[in-house]
Amino acid sequence: MLNLGVLASGRGSNFQAIIDEIEAGRLDAEIKILIVDNPNAYAIERAKRHSIEYLYINPKEFPSKDDFFIKIADELKSRDVELVILAGFMRIVRKFLIDAFPNRIMNIHPALLPSFPGLHGQKQAVDYGIRISGCTVHFVDEGMDTGPVIIQAAVPVSPDDTEDSLSARILKLEHKIFPEAIRLYAEGRLSVEGRVVKIKGYELKDEF
Ligand code: GAR
Repeated sequence: MLNLGVLASGRGSNFQAIIDEIEAGRLDAEIKILIVDNPNAYAIERAKRHSIEYLYINPKEFPSKDDFFIKIADELKSRDVELVILAGFMRIVRKFLIDAFPNRIMNIHPALLPSFPGLHGQKQAVDYGIRISGCTVHFVDEGMDTGPVIIQAAVPVSPDDTEDSLSARILKLEHKIFPEAIRLYAEGRLSVEGRVVKIKGYELKDEF
């Protein structure tokens, strides 16, 4: 059983997708704690509903960003967390946390990286006028959305799409590939060679 720690800032629908996979018996993991940086994050309601411990850590209470991430790392370590999940956590993770969990932090991004990193990946795609976008699960390094890619899934983009319509289409796939990436990790099938993630027994799929 893999011990997870989840960091979120808002709605928490990816957090919910992971909870659902665990509760359905399809993911051999336990969420030891949800940490939020926003006291109004709806993710808190989801944690309460599923009896998951949660913690609000206010970044303003710390003298520096490093201290904030040191506190997060301490809380995760004290609960024996093995893999950290960034489920809509809207901050760039600092070196201290990355060093505490090397290649053990996963993020979901709503675009096909390395295209459209940073905030509003879906709006960036619509504004650019591309015809295919999607989402990416990757390990976190010190850059912004630059770490080794684990899984990606693609969706078509219509010339008439808005940020909202494209976001909804991408989100459905996020909810599939994030638990899938965690499952691969839990099964010990992921390794990182340079910036390439090797996956034991990887099956090419035409679509997710
Ligand atoms: C998701 O679309 C996720 O990909 C995105 O925030 C949303 C969170 O939704 N993350 C980023 O843009 C990170 N740069 P959720 O709170 O419902 O999971």
